[in-house]
Amino acid sequence: MPLSASLRQVMTRLNEGVGGVVLVVDAAGTLQGVVTDGDIRRAIIAGTAFEAPADAFMSRQFTAGRAGAEPTANLALLNARVRHLPILDAGGRPVDLLTWADLWKMPLVQPSLGGNEAKYVNDCLTTGWISSQGAYIDRFQSAFAAYMGGGEALCCSSGTTALHLALAALGIGPGDEVIVPDFTFGATANVVIHAGATPVFVDVDPVTWTMSPAAAAAAVTPRTKAIIPVHLYGHPCDMDPLLALAERHNLKVVEDCAEALGAEYKGRKVGTIGDVGCFSFFANKIITTGEGGMVTTGDKDLAAIMARLRDHGMAKDRRYWHLEAGFNYRMTNLQAALGLAQMEALDKFLARRADLVARYDRTLAKIQGMTLPPRAPWARNVHWLYTITIDEAVLGLTRDLLAEKLKERGIETRPVFFPLHPQPAYRNAVAHPCPVTEDLARRGLSLPTGNEMTIEDASKVCEALTSVLHSHLVTLMRGA
Ligand SMILES: Cc1ncc(COP(=O)(O)O)c(C=O)c1O
Repeated sequence: MPLSASLRQVMTRLNEGVGGVVLVVDAAGTLQGVVTDGDIRRAIIAGTAFEAPADAFMSRQFTAGRAGAEPTANLALLNARVRHLPILDAGGRPVDLLTWADLWKMPLVQPSLGGNEAKYVNDCLTTGWISSQGAYIDRFQSAFAAYMGGGEALCCSSGTTALHLALAALGIGPGDEVIVPDFTFGATANVVIHAGATPVFVDVDPVTWTMSPAAAAAAVTPRTKAIIPVHLYGHPCDMDPLLALAERHNLKVVEDCAEALGAEYKGRKVGTIGDVGCFSFFANKIITTGEGGMVTTGDKDLAAIMARLRDHGMAKDRRYWHLEAGFNYRMTNLQAALGLAQMEALDKFLARRADLVARYDRTLAKIQGMTLPPRAPWARNVHWLYTITIDEAVLGLTRDLLAEKLKERGIETRPVFFPLHPQPAYRNAVAHPCPVTEDLARRGLSLPTGNEMTIEDASKVCEALTSVLHSHLVTLMRGA
């Protein structure tokens, strides 16, 4: 901006999300000074007039990097004091700006693959067992079933195929209705459509963010055949009233546990409560196999049907004899090798997440206008993603602006899912009123939560968050 720019103009520019800094240049384009959020704060406290020109409050003492210098040499100039580094050409004109976001990036999720993953995958490569047969399939399934406390576990190619396999094995098909929450990832509803049935969207409960038992009860018709409670963001659904509803109307219960491995409802692991549990091992999940999924059930007959459908519908005792037109939903031995190594680390991952959650809670609980993730008294929430809601009226900034400001500081966040019912893919579905979903969808934001994340990382995210809120609030108060 030019030297003649006023305090008000600089503040307006900063509010557009320019990385918390404005560069002030003379008529020749040569950098004269920098103005940061902090400078603005100090200028306001000192009573500077809003129409005062920029040079009244900018700092002329700045650190700058050189265009053409080694990138690492320029980055090395950034430190706790120097958060913004203008890069100048030989004439002193700014050509670039480095910020902390160039120095430190916090992705939303990072898989942790530092255990036996490489060893087991290498074993597959050296022995040649890379397809859907091999020892790791059985070992992964057994480890998973043991973690669940028994029952059957069958690995699949994804969480989506796990869900579809469950519906197909339960005989859900054309003419049937399946109740799903409006607040979930689209795969939950897509599989219902793939099965030839109709998704019926119901609202979620404001305390758990998961399927409202009352809304589900109100949506049952003579065509309803199943419900798919989704343990969203790692928080279990309130299963007792849903099980009672299913019992009353003879409905199948398919738990979508894609985001909730390890979560517990009244001490029972999710995936062991309904007829079938379905898990996802996509790279951002609690454990990963790259892509992958698992179905769990306590019903041996149902497990046998799912195993057959997973493998083209072929009879177990007669090769190439197809009893149904099944699918190829098998997992590879390579993926299962990853899965086994991940299972070995699962307790460590969940403990790490609990520590991150405690660190986030400590800071965020003090911020008015921010609500912590759901946590019912009976729930073990594994916090797949630590997800908060923003009260825009109290905080004075929207969820999306907060996300933008955190991105400028190198922190990746993610808005929560959109409601499903208004989306084009679901125009033929049935939708009940979903005001809670609509509200959460506008205000929910997930913060970085990964198995590789450290407490120091979480502290940095908290610091960035409070600093963003602080500078925004000061700017807003004075701009009013
Ligand atoms: C709630 C929910 N259901 C289903 C899925 C589908 O899992 P996948 O991506 O492994 O197919 C996901 C994952 O993204 C999910 O979050």
